[in-house]
Order: sequence, then C-alpha cells, then structure tokens
Amino acid sequence: MPKHKTEKKLAAIVLAAGLGTRMKSERPKVLHALAGKPMIAHLLDTVAELKSAKTVCVIGSDMDAVAKAVSPHPVVIQKEQLGTGHAVLAARAALDGFEGDVLILYGDTPLVTTGTLEKMLAARRTGTAPAVVVLGFRPIEPAAYGRLVLGEDGALDAIVEAEDATAEQARIELCNSGVMLVDAKHLFALLDGVGNANAKGEYYLTDIVALARSKGLGCAVVEGAESELIGVNSRADLARAEKVLQDRLRSRAMENGATLTDPESVFFNFDTQLGRDVTVGPNVVFGPGAVIGDGVEICAFCHIEGARVAENAIIGPFARLRPGADVGVDARVGNFCEVKNSTIGTGAKVNHLTYIGDADIGAGANIGAGTITCNYDGFLKSRTEIGADAFIGSNTALVAPVTVGAGAIIGAGSVVARDVDADALALTRAEHKEFGGWAKRYRDRKRAEKAAKGKKKT
Ligand code: UD1
Ligand code: MG
Repeated sequence: MPKHKTEKKLAAIVLAAGLGTRMKSERPKVLHALAGKPMIAHLLDTVAELKSAKTVCVIGSDMDAVAKAVSPHPVVIQKEQLGTGHAVLAARAALDGFEGDVLILYGDTPLVTTGTLEKMLAARRTGTAPAVVVLGFRPIEPAAYGRLVLGEDGALDAIVEAEDATAEQARIELCNSGVMLVDAKHLFALLDGVGNANAKGEYYLTDIVALARSKGLGCAVVEGAESELIGVNSRADLARAEKVLQDRLRSRAMENGATLTDPESVFFNFDTQLGRDVTVGPNVVFGPGAVIGDGVEICAFCHIEGARVAENAIIGPFARLRPGADVGVDARVGNFCEVKNSTIGTGAKVNHLTYIGDADIGAGANIGAGTITCNYDGFLKSRTEIGADAFIGSNTALVAPVTVGAGAIIGAGSVVARDVDADALALTRAEHKEFGGWAKRYRDRKRAEKAAKGKKKT
C-alpha cells in the first residue's frame, strides 16, 4: 500500500444537491445511469478504493432517492442551492473535528479514476505540501468549464468561472474538473471568506484558491485526462460519459480474456461478468445481471439481461435472454429465440424462432423451430416441464401448466395441453386428408376461366 494512504486520513465530500436543470429531467441529475448504475454510485465506488474514513454526500431537500442510492454513506441537506462553495459548507458539521485531507468531488463528474485521485493525494503530501490541490484538464472545448489561472512560477493562483472570465482568461486551455483536495485545517475557514459577487450570484468553491493564495497558502494543479473528467450537465454530456465508460468496460473484458469481434458495438452493464475465452460478436447488448461462463459464444445481435449462461453454450445470433434465463453447459439458443425465467439443461437445443418462458427443459432435449410455451392465461403464469432428451416437434404450442416426460416425442404442429408420459409420442394435429389430382384440375379450370375473361376484354 502506498505510504500516503496510511500516513494521513482522508474524508470525501460529494456534491449532488444541484438541480441539474440542463438535463431537463424529473430525476436528480446524479441518479442518471451510466452502464446501468447511477453516476454518483460510480463515483462512490472510486472513492471507496481510496479508503476514505468518511464520505459525505451533499443533497437537496427533495432528494430522498439520492439519499437511498448513496446509502450507507451519510447525507447532509443543502436546502437552497447557492453554489458549490455553499454546498461544501453544508458538510461542515458532518466533518467536525476531522483532521486530514478533504477530497471534494462533484456528483456530476463520475468517471474520475482512482489512479488520478492518488496522484492528487501524492501532490498534497509531497514537496511544498500545498494546502489545495486542484484536478485540472485540457478539454477540446473548454466552453463552460472554470479556467485555471497559473502564476509565473507555475503554481495555481485562481480559478475563474467561464462567465466571469476576461477574454484573455477565456483563452486558457487548462480547466477545472471540479475535483479538489484541501487540507481540512483550512477548508472551512477559507469557505467562510467566499462571497457571491459574481456573474451567477453563487458562492463558488473555486474562489478558495485565490483566498488561499492571499493567505500565503500553496495551491497546485494535477492534470487528468478529459475522458475521465467529463462533467455531465446535459443529455449530450451523459451520452459522452457513457461512451467513455463503455470503452473502459470493453477494454476490461478483453484484458480478462474475452474476444470482442467488434468492441465498439458491444454494450456492457457495469456488472456484466464474462468468463475466459468468451467470444462476443457484433451488436450485442448486456443489460443488468448477465453472468457468462467460460468458452461461451455469443453471436451477433443478442440482448442478454438477468441471465446466466454456462460453459461452452452458444447463444444467437439474434437471441434474447431475459431475467431468470439459465442456460446450461453446451446448450444452444439460436436465432429469434426468447428465453425468460427458464432453465435450459445441459446440451439442450432451442435453435429457431421459439419462446421459452417459465419452463424447465431437461438435458439433451430438442425444441423444434417455432415452439411456444403458452405460459400466461391472461391472469397467471404457469410452468412447462420438459424431461431430458424429449423431442418437441416444430411449431408446437405447450399450454402451461404442462409436463412432457423424458424422452417423449411431440409431433410437429401440436397443441399440448395435457401431460405427456415419458417416451410416449403425442400428436394433436388434424388428420391428413388427400385428394388425388385435385390441384391440377383446379389450376386447369382457373386458367380457362381467366383466358375466357381476357378474350372478352379485347
Ligand atoms: C463547476 C465548477 C467549474 C468546473 C465544472 C466542472 C464551480 C463554481 N464551478 O461548474 O469550475 O469547471 O464544475 O464540471 O464550482 N452543486 C451543489 N449545490 C449547489 C451547486 C452545485 O451540490 O448549490 C453540485 C451539483 O449537484 C454538481 C456539482 O455541484 O454535482 C457542480 O455543480 P454544477 O452546477 O454542475 O457546476 P458547473 O457549472 O458544472
Ligand atoms: Mg457541472
């Protein structure tokens, strides 16, 4: 463990009280999801890796949902959103008596990495031990980000918000990510000195830099990459952040031994688990709760959510596994098949155009094309049980609750509403009738009719 982790204590304050009006949403901004998890939860996971002694989230008055999402971390309420500086002050009592470093993060900047935060901790604890360390970055479009004003000695002199910047300051490329590390000894005293005489009429956290300098305290900048410091203020920002996170998840999957034929078109959930030697084809989407075993092949255009796929199974192309799908070893779920709340036994095959819902399919069973488990009667769901090595003919409707015994064969096109014994043949299709030569006679008659009509017209 690096020295700084044990030498000094760390506390964190995550600001999340802002209304996020630019998102145009009923939902608090920090609860918008990235890879299926609220952005603030991503941030809290990162902070947890730094072993912070206490992490306090600052939220607004009507944000019970945020309090729930960040639990068990304590929340403090900032009743009115008067600015980021005012928000940090709301956490004052919660950190009363704390000695060490306070890491301030913005809930809307969720992609910052542990490695970058560790660089900030190192900067605070080495050399001149600056009282304030700011995480800066150089976005391609600095636009609305605060600008970091450096002195001739390269130290940080001030942060100027875009709205308050002079034309010259607006040209500064080094911007404020919002992440700050401050000596607890100075933080709240500095904030007491922050006013709101600025373009937005807000109490800016960023003003503590110039105040610290005026008191002879050192301020330094550590730089991070733009990709990890995107501030999410709009839906477009959210989409950019999602892309960054997806790229990370794709890289992680490949580092862990999965082949992604076309990584750019595979979308992961934060909790997707892939075994070794999994192959994922193009255009595959993982929703929450997918657990994929070693050696599984997921062909193109599959959607997988809440499902477990055991070793060496082959899924798709064009398959949909819904919550509760449990596909066994060496099993096969092919094109245009949907599986929900069902187990597919070892080596069983569900290859074409089939719906398997609320069913248990035994090992080695073969489910013919177009088979449907009719699991819903309009009121209740019922189960279908299919024994090992049963053969369900194509286009069979299995009307649940129904059991097909092991080794039974169901003739194609059957509607099975009664249980079928093991090793029996069950057929419910209509009797085959045949009329010899009828088709030819029909065609000859129709052709003659048409020809007679055509002559009349001309
Ligand atoms: C802020 C920074 C800017 C930086 C940018 C990075 C200030 C004054 N400006 O601007 O320098 O470049 O982030 O993304 O800090 N919040 C509260 N209470 C408030 C106001 C905000 O909790 O009263 C929270 C918000 O929920 C959000 C975070 O603080 O998570 C940042 O607020 P936001 O309004 O997004 O600030 P920016 O305009 O992005
Ligand atoms: Mg912001």
